[in-house]
Amino acid sequence: MSENTTALLDKIMSKKAKVCVVGLGYVGVPLTVASAQAGFDVIGVDMEKEKVSMINKGICYVEDAYSEKYLPDLVRAGLISATNSLPDGATSSDIVIVCVPTPLNPKGDPDLSFLKSVAKDLSKNLSGFKLVIVESTSFPGTTTDIFQPLLQRKGKSPEKDFALVYSPERIDYGNAKFGVRNIPKVVGGINDESTQLGAEFYKAILDAPVVTVGSPSVAEATKMLENIFRYVNIALVNELAILHETLGVDFIEAISAAATKPFGFMPHYPGPGVGGHCIPKDPFYLVFKAKQAGFLLRLVSASKTVNKMMPVHTIDRLAKALRTGKKSLPNAIVVVWGLAYKGEVKDTRRSPSIELLKLLKQSRAKIRVFDPYVPRVIVGGKTYESSSSEIESVRDADALMIATAHNAFRTVDLSKIRSLMRDRPILYDTRNLRTRRECEEAGFTYLATGRP
Ligand SMILES: NC(=O)c1ccc[n+]([C@@H]2O[C@H](COP(=O)([O-])OP(=O)(O)OC[C@H]3O[C@@H](n4cnc5c(N)ncnc54)[C@H](O)[C@@H]3O)[C@@H](O)[C@H]2O)c1
Repeated sequence: MSENTTALLDKIMSKKAKVCVVGLGYVGVPLTVASAQAGFDVIGVDMEKEKVSMINKGICYVEDAYSEKYLPDLVRAGLISATNSLPDGATSSDIVIVCVPTPLNPKGDPDLSFLKSVAKDLSKNLSGFKLVIVESTSFPGTTTDIFQPLLQRKGKSPEKDFALVYSPERIDYGNAKFGVRNIPKVVGGINDESTQLGAEFYKAILDAPVVTVGSPSVAEATKMLENIFRYVNIALVNELAILHETLGVDFIEAISAAATKPFGFMPHYPGPGVGGHCIPKDPFYLVFKAKQAGFLLRLVSASKTVNKMMPVHTIDRLAKALRTGKKSLPNAIVVVWGLAYKGEVKDTRRSPSIELLKLLKQSRAKIRVFDPYVPRVIVGGKTYESSSSEIESVRDADALMIATAHNAFRTVDLSKIRSLMRDRPILYDTRNLRTRRECEEAGFTYLATGRP
């Protein structure tokens, strides 16, 4: 083991290493808090002045219960600070963790500009031997073929200036059971010493097992596999849901029954589309890389077709049910409950609700929305203000769509809701939160994804 590695390993074990987290978003903030909670001195870097100022005031702006709980005290204790300047953050640090965005560009291809820009800036600030960890999601080869050459461009080398690791972030914010500290961490370095340094650092800040793999590319491929697995399986149940609606078979009941098989099956659930920051985006990182290698990822393309079809199918089914009740979408008042992309969060990024609103607007339906977490959403230049309550949202409405699995929608009194709506109202439960029986007993025409 080189002297540099031994010295950095000692600093990690004794918690004397200084940590710099670049990109203080949904990923960077919980990592900052976990590192500081473990006893490391942490400096966060973000290009957004407002975020830096909020962190320095001890204000947590990401929706993460763990960070909300611990960040204020850790800032007060002087273990966390933030800056806009990468040189200020990185130069004096021993470990730099990169958590900047990796979005898709308007063509739907990977946009690695944030990651490249950080690599270039870091190459100028590699004084002393540092462990550099990339956490941003990308395709295999990003760390070794794109990030590392940029890091080395000022004559720096892995032998004397840095260790380099890719460790995919798996956080599922809003998840009450799994947070940054108890999700197992995968670590792959450009050489054995890098892997060892990365693994020891995560062991020092997490309660979860650390899994080492043979290279950064394997760690990148792990992340791609996990999120493509979800994208494809969601497409599978979405497509089968539509089929079983037509066949007159309760597919949701079938999923629950299949889930009793103790091996070889993992339940996924259909819905009005696929939303969120990662699942609809990440598969297209690998699609891009595959294309470069002359390879077509047919399953991902087919899944995209199915997943994109879900909002259209949902609105078509609603329109048909309205016609059966001698009403029409252009003359109907339709209420959408839930704007966030998943239950119990306020994040509306790529939310299927947005697609539903677009389609309802195109159909000239009169739209109302309610979300206990989201005050408003802007879709196609139009602002939809959330009603003040479930009750307020449904007065004189013809149809109610449950679009997000917020817990409040599981228990709301459906008879009361029904009594405020027009004749022959429809309840379309796209998330299967309520039973057919309770909806029909309350007097609704019942529709649900995956159910006839
Ligand atoms: N959000 C999730 O749940 C999640 C989960 C797993 C992986 N990821 C991946 O992690 C990465 C970060 O995601 P996120 O959700 O935290 O993004 P985010 O947009 O919430 O945060 C990224 C932050 O980086 C900052 N930034 C951009 N360029 C910078 C630069 N040059 N210097 C300093 N700061 C810079 C931005 O201002 C922003 O605050 C992405 O690759 C994403 O795909 C996200």
